Amino acid sequence: MWDYTDKVLELFYNPKNQGAIEETNEPGLKVATGEVGSIACGDALRLHLKVEVASDKILDARFQTFGCTSAIASSSALTEMVKGLTLDEALKVTNKEIAAYLGGLPEAKMHCSVMGQEALEAAISNYRGIPLAAHDDDDEGTLICTCFSITDTKIRKVIAQNNLLSAEQVTNYVKAGGGCGSCLAKIDDIIKEVKQEFAKENLHTNGAKAKTEVSVLNNSLWQQEPLTNVRKVALIQKVLDEEVRPVLIADGGDVELYDVEGDKVKVVLQGACGSCSSSTATLKIAIESRLRDRISKEIIVEAVNY
Ligand code: FES
Repeated sequence: MWDYTDKVLELFYNPKNQGAIEETNEPGLKVATGEVGSIACGDALRLHLKVEVASDKILDARFQTFGCTSAIASSSALTEMVKGLTLDEALKVTNKEIAAYLGGLPEAKMHCSVMGQEALEAAISNYRGIPLAAHDDDDEGTLICTCFSITDTKIRKVIAQNNLLSAEQVTNYVKAGGGCGSCLAKIDDIIKEVKQEFAKENLHTNGAKAKTEVSVLNNSLWQQEPLTNVRKVALIQKVLDEEVRPVLIADGGDVELYDVEGDKVKVVLQGACGSCSSSTATLKIAIESRLRDRISKEIIVEAVNY
């Protein structure tokens, strides 16, 4: 039995805004519809939006859903959330916000909130006359899950937006992997790639932000006096602990300082970093460049096993 919140059950037993909105050709008003899912896959949602043309405002929203308790509750929640918003504001509604409106969804049912977000995007694209293939870069991706016709683009998007860490979670959010299971290894690879991209971006962003503070620190501390070996080791440890390790740990890895010989910094990579085929890149990009920025341009990082 699923552990649904009171809000989910309330909107399941008494759904708000269920039904269609017929086009009445009233001046200044238009009806947009967006459809996602398929009955063959177990869930389908058709979303109707009544839009005031002059203001781009959603005056009314209704839904028709074929699906489970959480599909009905998510669709109902979505219609409540978008009423009164402009189309641009509505496009910012995420599946996480739909789930939050419901007080949460069981993780295995998160795909219902994703379906709501996709139906909204489809309806707004239709309204604006943008062909779905042009607006939805999902169609440009590589097909990963043939059972549910899910591309890598869609998988990457849901991983990034919801910070997903496992193939099982991806299945819960977009169903990919929930059929024959033959795509699960590919989904694992995509998760690793997204996390690595995120780690690199994070280091880059934090690095730019911290550069000013560090240059002040450089001038006031070690650049005014010669850097002794003891201070150098302490600074390396500090940079690793405060700036490098948190990012690697978030990616399932870690790093330990093993030794310092002149400008050669020896480290031990652990966890996902140690077994990762791109650990050399991780070393160069994430650790060496950071230590060079912070301490000395001469530093060379090497991985050791022990
Ligand atoms: S190919 Fe993805 S579940 Fe079958």
